[in-house]
Amino acid sequence: EVFFKLKVNMVKKINKNKMWGGRFNADQDKIMIEMNSSVNFDSRFYTEDINASIAHAKMLAKTKIITSKEARKIVVGLNKIKSEFESGKFNLDPLLEDIHMNIESNLQKKIGDVAKKLHTGRSRNDQVATDMRLYIRKECNVMINLICNLQLELSKKALKYYDFIMPGFTHLQVAQPVTLGHHLLAYVEMLERDKSRFQDAIKRINQNPLGAAALAGTTFPIDRNMTTKELGFTEPMANSIDAVSARDFIIEPLSAISILATHLSRFSEEIILWVSDGFNFIELPESLSTGSSIMPQKKNPDIAELVRGKNGRIISALLSILVVMKGLPLAYSKDLQEDKELTFDAIDSIMISLRAINAITKKLKPKKENLLIAAEESYSTATDLADWLVANLNVPFRESHKITGHIVKYCETKKIKLSEMKIDELKKFHKDINNGIYDVLSAKQSVNHKKSFGSTSPLMVNKAAKKWVNKLHNEKK
Ligand code: ARG
Repeated sequence: EVFFKLKVNMVKKINKNKMWGGRFNADQDKIMIEMNSSVNFDSRFYTEDINASIAHAKMLAKTKIITSKEARKIVVGLNKIKSEFESGKFNLDPLLEDIHMNIESNLQKKIGDVAKKLHTGRSRNDQVATDMRLYIRKECNVMINLICNLQLELSKKALKYYDFIMPGFTHLQVAQPVTLGHHLLAYVEMLERDKSRFQDAIKRINQNPLGAAALAGTTFPIDRNMTTKELGFTEPMANSIDAVSARDFIIEPLSAISILATHLSRFSEEIILWVSDGFNFIELPESLSTGSSIMPQKKNPDIAELVRGKNGRIISALLSILVVMKGLPLAYSKDLQEDKELTFDAIDSIMISLRAINAITKKLKPKKENLLIAAEESYSTATDLADWLVANLNVPFRESHKITGHIVKYCETKKIKLSEMKIDELKKFHKDINNGIYDVLSAKQSVNHKKSFGSTSPLMVNKAAKKWVNKLHNEKK
């Protein structure tokens, strides 16, 4: 950006824009150029812009709007430009506003006046919508892959730790014992829904705006089905005004990104809690930790904190685009150019977050002993005791809840665990209680006895983790 400003300021005389300056006499103010220019960020989708132009040129030839020879020249020129971009040799000119006009103007330099025919029957309005759709579709597919990779790492860990017992929490208070495998698989399920949100968004991203031209369509006999096919879209958009003004194809993936980021942020928060001294549930390797510049003993989970922080940025991008859109009349207004930086920023933020969480998952080491000790704390098997009274003594659940409450209170005053109560002590709370009750009072017994579908018993978690590992391995093939 600094470089860009320098470049504008260095220009002594700014000529009127070469590409659209026909009706202008005056040159542009520097502030006009600075404000208007998007090339320092929209060059990100040069590949998509070139591909869409190639499809457009081929279509113009097939419909005989230009000759095949002309189209061939254009395509050769565009491919040269693509290689220049790829080798870092393409020179972007901020005075040419955006990526579209940079490429078109360069094409003129390369192949001469025939380049001027490329823009027949299209406008930058349908062009930019097409480019962004192609670009976002590509990034959605990258995200889907990254999600798959993360799911696989989580599932492998779930399989490895399927029977590690830990406390499950509600209200961040110890609630009931669960298994670490079960906890990790909860994220795999969330990520599966995230993935399907992107897959679903792609269906709507995949509609072709090209050929809508500025907003009204065109007088040329273009073939929109042909560009649709060439660019891998599913259908041409049926209304030219909608085609150039719609941005829900950005809002939708941004909302999917926001939900995904929120899931990653919750995971991060747990990592931050789990490595803290109060919990001490897991160990993060030094390679994924940071130190303090003043406190020599510190080992901080910055990586997880940054993922949590990026979630804020990502949600802001979604809100920003919604606010940009909410008052916009149809069809195109330049406000729409603001869709880009925030989308790119959200995409960069989610990609690095996915990779960071993947690294954390790969390297975290659970502290089995600490997890078990914590799972035995805080009368975590009280619900099992209450269930036992229901199942074995035919006590109605509300009643057994109350009895168990009294037992917990008693243990609290005596500072003992449920499993440490003598049978005579227990009988004081219900005369029929027998030794069978000792089968359900430990954390291990508690998880082993969970048998409902989707529950935390190691047996079920082992099955679920295996199912996920297989499924994700196959998906990656
Ligand atoms: N750079 C512009 C954008 O990102 C391209 C479209 C320009 N269209 C126009 N009518 N000025 O939206």
